[in-house]
Amino acid sequence: MNKKGFIFDLDGVIVDTAKYHFLAWKNLANSIGIDFSETQNEQLKGVSRVRSLEKILTWGNKTLSEEEFSRLMTLKNEEYLSYINTMDASEVLPNVTNTLNSLNNKKQAIALGSASKNARPILEKVDLLDKFHAIVDGNDVTKAKPDPEVFLIGAKLLQLQPNDCVVFEDSVAGIQAANIANMLSIGIGDASVLREADYIFKDFTEIPDSFLEDVISDKIKKQPKTNLSIKN
Ligand code: BG6
Ligand code: MG
Repeated sequence: MNKKGFIFDLDGVIVDTAKYHFLAWKNLANSIGIDFSETQNEQLKGVSRVRSLEKILTWGNKTLSEEEFSRLMTLKNEEYLSYINTMDASEVLPNVTNTLNSLNNKKQAIALGSASKNARPILEKVDLLDKFHAIVDGNDVTKAKPDPEVFLIGAKLLQLQPNDCVVFEDSVAGIQAANIANMLSIGIGDASVLREADYIFKDFTEIPDSFLEDVISDKIKKQPKTNLSIKN
């Protein structure tokens, strides 16, 4: 059987942690007099912790000293971790565990490709860490999505060529990163938001096993795209 690399984003693909990021960012923003809405939270999906705080400060028209900036980053993460600590396997999104098991049974290679520095503890909390052959997270990269670095490191660790890899992503930046890496990009979420993806599913309950098999057997392949570049 062919071997492909299946690379999963974490937040919004495996677990719905956006609600915890929202609470922690909102409390932090409000504590320094900045409003923070659900719509703004949407724009932080897939965005690194540093860049997220920079964006919030821009929205609130505020500048901070370096010390204050890093103090607030720590505060946000402490609150976020307090929510993460309550997580268990019941928070894994529908049909994700089945998909991981099915790919493992088909002897496929599986990696995580996430911007989060908290990826390992989250996978441990929801009891999925042992499903992955490689983990690439926010501690391993120097460039954020839409830069393809996170996925290219994943392919390397799985010892596969990028065009033998498939990416599951819920963020626009992540889909762009997968496309730039020349990997089959599969959007998980809203089709109107993720329209740059090669395929889009609302969630993993909509991905039939036959789709995974077609990807593995090369019936479904990446169609090379032209004119891809990193847009921020
Ligand atoms: C991404 C999330 O996966 O990770 C972002 O979509 C988050 O919202 C980023 O800011 C960094 O996560 P963390 O856990 O390192 O703060
Ligand atoms: Mg995500």
